[in-house]
Amino acid sequence: MSKRTIVLMPGDGIGKTVLPEAVRVLEAVGFEADYLHADIGWDFWCKEGNPLPERTVKLLEEHKLSLFGAITSKPKAAAMQELAPELQNKGYVYYSPIVELRQHFNLDICIRPCKTFKGNSLNFIRRGYDGTIEEPGVDVVIFRQNTEGLYCGVEWTNPPDQVYAAFNTHPKMKNFAATPKEELAISARIFSKKACERIIRAAFEHAKQYGYKSVTLCEKPNVIRETSGMMLHIAMEMVKEYPGIELWDTNIDAQMMWLTKNPETYGVIVCGNMFGDIVSDGFAGLVGGLGFACSANIGQEVAIFEPTHGSAPKYADFETPIVNPIATILSAGMMLDYIGETVKADKIREAIAKVIQAGQVKTYDMMKLRGSPKALQQGAASTMQLTDEIIRYL
Ligand code: NAI
Ligand code: MG
Repeated sequence: MSKRTIVLMPGDGIGKTVLPEAVRVLEAVGFEADYLHADIGWDFWCKEGNPLPERTVKLLEEHKLSLFGAITSKPKAAAMQELAPELQNKGYVYYSPIVELRQHFNLDICIRPCKTFKGNSLNFIRRGYDGTIEEPGVDVVIFRQNTEGLYCGVEWTNPPDQVYAAFNTHPKMKNFAATPKEELAISARIFSKKACERIIRAAFEHAKQYGYKSVTLCEKPNVIRETSGMMLHIAMEMVKEYPGIELWDTNIDAQMMWLTKNPETYGVIVCGNMFGDIVSDGFAGLVGGLGFACSANIGQEVAIFEPTHGSAPKYADFETPIVNPIATILSAGMMLDYIGETVKADKIREAIAKVIQAGQVKTYDMMKLRGSPKALQQGAASTMQLTDEIIRYL
C-alpha cells in the first residue's frame, strides 16, 4: 500500500502537546506516513483574522486524512481585543474552526467510543444491592450526527419580520403572542432525512461489524415529535435490514439516569447532534473522563480524528507537560481503523490497556491529583513518560 499523508493540525494549548505524542506512537507501531503540518486556531485568528486559513483547507482537500489537537475559542470581546491592530474594525468575525471544518467537509458522522480499561482508577463504580462494590465494564460507541440540529447555527435574537411571520403560522406560537418580538430568541433544530439516514446507517453497520447486539436511538420523540420522530421512524425501518440486532429507543433525559444505573447494558447509541454531545460526555465520564475520550469526524471524502477535550490553556505552558495523551493516541488508533490498519490500531489499544492495568505510570488525572507542576513530584508521570511507557509495551 502506498504511503499515506496525514495532515497534522495541533491547534492551540495542549493540542500542541498531545498531537506529537500520537505521532510518536504511530511511528513506533510501524505505521509509515508522511506528516504535513497545518495551521489552525487562535494564533491565526489574531495574526490573520482567520482561525482556519485557506491553505489548511487546501491541504485537507488534497490529503483527506487528518489528526487534530484542539483549539482555543474565546468570547466576542476577547476575540476583538486580541486581533492584530491592523486588522481591527475591518469586519473580521471569529468562528470556531472545528465547527467550520465539520460543515465545510460535511463531516456528518461523529463517532465517540467509551470503553472501560481494566484497572483504571477513574472507572465508574456502583454499590451493589448487597453493599458490594461493582465496577461495570462499559463498552459503548456513540454515533452523533455532527452537522445539523441545534448546533447548525440557524438562530436569531429578535428575528427578522419574515421569519417572525413564518413562525406565527404555527398554532403553538400563540404561547408567545404576548412577548414582544425583540424579546424572542429562536434557535432552529433542523434535521434532514438524508443525514439522519446516514448516521443511523453508520450506527447499524458498526454494530454489525463489531458484533454489538443493540443499537439505541437516544432522542425525545414523545416531545420533539418532528425531528426526533424522524430519527425514530428511520431507525424502525432500518432495523429490519439487520437481523440479530435489536433497536432500543430511549429518551435523552432517562438515558442520563440509566447512564449510572446500568451503563453496561448499552452497545451502539445513535443521536442527533446535541444529544450525542451530551450523552458522549456522560459516558466518557464513566471511563476516565477527558483524558480518555477519543473521537472521529467522518465525511464522504475527508476524515478528521481528535480528542474530545479542548486546549486546556491552564496546562499549556508547563515546562514539563502533564496532560494525558491517551485520548489523542486512541484517536490516532481510530484513524488506523478507518484506513484499514486495524492490526496496528489493536496493538496500540492493547499497549494502552497494559500500561493502565500495570498501574505504574499514570498522568495526574489518572491519580486524581490537582493539575499543577507539583503533580510530577507527587508521582505523576509527564505526558511524554506516559507515551514512552505505551511505546515500551508496543
Ligand atoms: P478543556 O477540555 O480544554 O479542559 C477542561 C479540563 O479538562 C481541563 O482543565 C483539565 O482539567 C481537563 N483536561 C482536558 N484535557 C485533558 C487531558 N488531555 N489530560 C488531563 N486532563 C485534561 O475544556 P475547557 O477548559 O472548557 O476549554 C478550554 C478551551 O478549549 C476553550 O477555549 C474552549 O473553547 C476550547 N475547546 C476546544 C475544543 C476543541 O478543540 N475540539 C473542545 C472543547 C473546548
Ligand atoms: Mg462537548
